[in-house]
Amino acid sequence: MTAQLIDGKAIAASLRQQIAKRVAERRQQGLRAPGLAVILVGSDPASQVYVSHKRKDCEEVGFVSQAYDLSASTSQAELLALIERLNDDPTIDGILVQLPLPENLDASLLLEHIRPDKDVDGFHPYNIGRLAQRMPLLRPCTPQGIMTLLHSTGVDLYGLHAVVVGASNIVGRPMAMELLLAGCTVTITHRFTKELACHVAQADIVVVAAGKPGLVKGEWIKPGAIVIDVGINRQADGKLTGDVEYDSALPRAGWITPVPGGVGPMTRACLLENTLHAAEHLHK
Ligand code: GUN
Repeated sequence: MTAQLIDGKAIAASLRQQIAKRVAERRQQGLRAPGLAVILVGSDPASQVYVSHKRKDCEEVGFVSQAYDLSASTSQAELLALIERLNDDPTIDGILVQLPLPENLDASLLLEHIRPDKDVDGFHPYNIGRLAQRMPLLRPCTPQGIMTLLHSTGVDLYGLHAVVVGASNIVGRPMAMELLLAGCTVTITHRFTKELACHVAQADIVVVAAGKPGLVKGEWIKPGAIVIDVGINRQADGKLTGDVEYDSALPRAGWITPVPGGVGPMTRACLLENTLHAAEHLHK
């Protein structure tokens, strides 16, 4: 047996095409293009790459993108003032602050200042609370994209045992809430979990977002399971690799996401989905 690939790159491209079509319709109806403000503080190389991709995506679908590239010495007060200005700007539907921020800044406080109806990352406690209470509004992009990938397999998710590896605010925690909402039985594991292999071996669905290359071994995977690898780790030779040992997981899994070309493109497409949703339904 060899796993079927879940082609995130293709699914994301199709989503972007649908979004571009809807933006063109809006323009024909005399409605404005959705607007996304992307704020980058400092010069973290990975963040610079992610942000440039997000801005390119905006251009492709016809959004207005406002770029704020700020120096690492930007103060908390300056950032708060910028967020407040964007909160009040009627041409802006989404505000994204790229994480991680330099250490002198309080990321939680800044994210809480973004108006919840412009929080297209879905990180504001209001949006996380809504997801927790089964009435999601703007949903965190990576877990939302992963749900689209899971549905693309055609597998009925109700009652399946999903194991999430990693408990971050960005991926692990909201991922668990999405899976619960979809009817899965959910286990969340993290860096202090004992016997990780035993938990993973129980999983019909395993989502790995630990940031550790090759953490999950192929032999741990339950035969036929759906394996979602959120990890993006750069090896010494420059190649990207995930948190799952891909070659040994391939003959055991039923479905698997590649790295790159799996989860990453979906996160970006969901950011566009959220921004369009905000423009269409939250800022009429
Ligand atoms: N850093 C890593 N992933 C993300 C993300 O999804 N959104 C933001 N804003 N920063 C990130």
